[in-house]
Amino acid sequence: MRSVLALAVATTLAAAGCAQNFLEWDDPEPNGLLTGPYVLLTGPDSAIVGFRAPGSQRAEVRWTATDGQKGTANAGSRKDLFSAQLRSLPRGPMIDYDVVVDGRVITKGQFRVSSAPDEKHIRFAVFGDTRNGHAVHRDVIMGITREQKVDFVLNTGDMVQNGGKPNEWITFFQIERPLLAKMPMLPTTGNHDVSGREYYERFFFLDQWSGGKRYFAHDWGNLRVIALDNGIECNRACAQFNYVRQALADGAKQNKLMVMFLHHSPYSSGYHGVDVGVAQAIGELAETYGVELVVSGHDHHYERTKPIKGTTYVVSGSSGAPIRPVRPHEWTAHARTEPHYVLVDVDGERMSMRAVNLRGEAFDSGVIEPNPPMSTQAPAVTPPAPAASP
Ligand SMILES: [Fe+2]
Repeated sequence: MRSVLALAVATTLAAAGCAQNFLEWDDPEPNGLLTGPYVLLTGPDSAIVGFRAPGSQRAEVRWTATDGQKGTANAGSRKDLFSAQLRSLPRGPMIDYDVVVDGRVITKGQFRVSSAPDEKHIRFAVFGDTRNGHAVHRDVIMGITREQKVDFVLNTGDMVQNGGKPNEWITFFQIERPLLAKMPMLPTTGNHDVSGREYYERFFFLDQWSGGKRYFAHDWGNLRVIALDNGIECNRACAQFNYVRQALADGAKQNKLMVMFLHHSPYSSGYHGVDVGVAQAIGELAETYGVELVVSGHDHHYERTKPIKGTTYVVSGSSGAPIRPVRPHEWTAHARTEPHYVLVDVDGERMSMRAVNLRGEAFDSGVIEPNPPMSTQAPAVTPPAPAASP
């Protein structure tokens, strides 16, 4: 009956010239919560809890920290995708939360926004290029979920096959639910994720916390993580380059360990190979401001470089997309064609990492050497190039 009704509505909208994409959203799960919850870090003491609750009128998220602080955030919605912005969260304690829809607790989760000031150990996971390899994607998610004390995850992009199809995002968040309900995520944009439609921006609520930009910086303890959008190879003539340079200069001034992550790999021995423009832009920034680690995807293998001008580069892009062969360069420390995820540990000033396959075996590990900055100053801002005409 529902499909007949949907077809009738689709026909009507098509006749009226309306996009039919939203029709694909009208298929609620029995519990009424099809997507999420998922947690996005949006600031030093804030996070968004996102979830989809078809047919629901009102929702909120109630949270309680283990230090006793608590609060409630109303969830706004666009169609049936809700987001609750949790603010003034304590840094360090675990935060338990309830998703309350139409007065009923639908689901629960927990996360942290940062380490406590005296806490020295940070652990984060990296994976990407899940696309439509759902079985491998599930195994990667379950693998990370089984790891102990992972604080947050970095996604290197190409989360879906076609970012213009909302059903693919729904599937992505369904698969990620066991992870993202209790580990916050920092995303970056892959070429498959954006298609000229707004679903990436919409599912990550960018208008609510990054001003719609797909690049941002986030601090976790003594670690500064910077997400890059496509286009950093703009020869200093774009707003992103200037933002990233300033974030790196500030991080260097504060003696932070620094990680940059993006989709397109500066250094890779895989199918796409070295991206010269990206390697040049990132390399200059990384060397100047002392970036310890750059992680990326796009190529569907695992690779860790020897330090290049002080920076270690890691490709992690085989969490579902078809794996591809790799032919190591002289700067390669380890390369492998196998689905995996990466765990990075920060202990005070010491960083180390290991790559883990779907059997839970660490097939590569290495120490990431500190990379002292050459400068803590960002030059005067270069005016961004005028926007291209549509
Ligand atoms: Fe890609």
